[in-house]
Formats: sequence, C-alpha cells, structure tokens
Amino acid sequence: MTNIEYPQSLTQGLSRTELLNHLQNRLDDARFQHCLRVETTARQLAQRFDADVDRAGLAGLLHDYAKQIPVEEYRRVIVENGFDPALLQYNRGVWHGIVGTWFIKTETGIMDHEVLQAIERHTTGDPEMTVLDQIIFVADFIEPARTLDAEVQARKAAETNLELASFIEMKNTLQYLIGSELTVYPKTLLTYNAFLKKTQAARA
Ligand SMILES: [Fe+2]
Ligand SMILES: [Fe+2]
Repeated sequence: MTNIEYPQSLTQGLSRTELLNHLQNRLDDARFQHCLRVETTARQLAQRFDADVDRAGLAGLLHDYAKQIPVEEYRRVIVENGFDPALLQYNRGVWHGIVGTWFIKTETGIMDHEVLQAIERHTTGDPEMTVLDQIIFVADFIEPARTLDAEVQARKAAETNLELASFIEMKNTLQYLIGSELTVYPKTLLTYNAFLKKTQAARA
C-alpha cells in the first residue's frame, strides 16, 4: 500500500511520506509497523462499512502517534493546556488517545475533526462512537498481527457487524483492566454499557 496519498485538505498539505517521517520520529519500529497495519485494516473496514476511506486510513496511520511520548511530557501538557486534571490519575494507555491528538495537531498541523475524534476515542471508546470511530477502534484490535481469541472473534464479527466487533473488544479491554487491577476510565465503562445494549439482538 505504498502508493497511498491523502487529500491535502486532510493533511494540511503534508504528503504521506512526510507523515511517515513524523511517525518515525515518535515511534520505535515495532509500533510504526503496527500503525501501517492499522492504516491498511482501517481502509478495508471503511470500504466494507461505507465510511470515508481516506479519513479512516489517516486516522489508522496516526492513531498511536503519541503512544511513546514520555510520561513527564504528558503531565506537563495536561497541566498547561486545560485538560481535565483527573487525567493525571491515569497513564499513557488513556492519554495517547485523549491527549495524543494535542501532539498530532501541534506537530503535524492536522485539524480534521473526524480524524482527530476517531484517534481521541480509540483507547477509551465513547458511548456515541461514530462508524469512523468504531473503524479505528476495531482496526487497532484486529490488524493482521493480532491473534488472541478475542481478536480473532472480533475480526470475524467485523466481517458483517462493526458494533458487535466493538463490543467484543470493549469486553476484552474491561476484563483485562479488571484482571490486572488497573483503574477503569469511567467512559470505558459507559461505552461497554452502550454497546452491550446496541448489540443485544446480534448476541441473542
Ligand atoms: Fe493506541
Ligand atoms: Fe494501536
């Protein structure tokens, strides 16, 4: 998929090569390769579910842009830029979505609301996730290198039912957080409840 190019209106004029350089400045190679796989998977899901393929690809490519930014840098940005101070109780797992878009905006200039929202919601979820939001949420979980049972199950569900795939992922995330005695971000629990309801018929 090296021949992908994104509309300049979405990238503030940056070429995909320039975007890849930005990503490589912030990520190690393993995480960078994951981003490329999520980009491909997100584009496929967008075709399948009639969403904007370029927005999906761009959000997939950049979704983990801020995953490896140092904790101290995050703490400073949260304090200095008007983020909810309650975020300080969490970790990069939560921050790289909600606060991660601050780094993307600042360092790449990308401003597209739908792209940024999908990135913002990819770790915690959101009860009101749009189709594009769900595409990034799910693509992250089912990209080809993912092989755990829940990931395989979500990949199968995503052949026809994006909400069911999102639910399977959300359930798995909560089980992991609780199993590891980690703090659950409240919106993650609200997202689980919302998708439990949305997928009731599909699970019956
Ligand atoms: Fe992530
Ligand atoms: Fe990811």
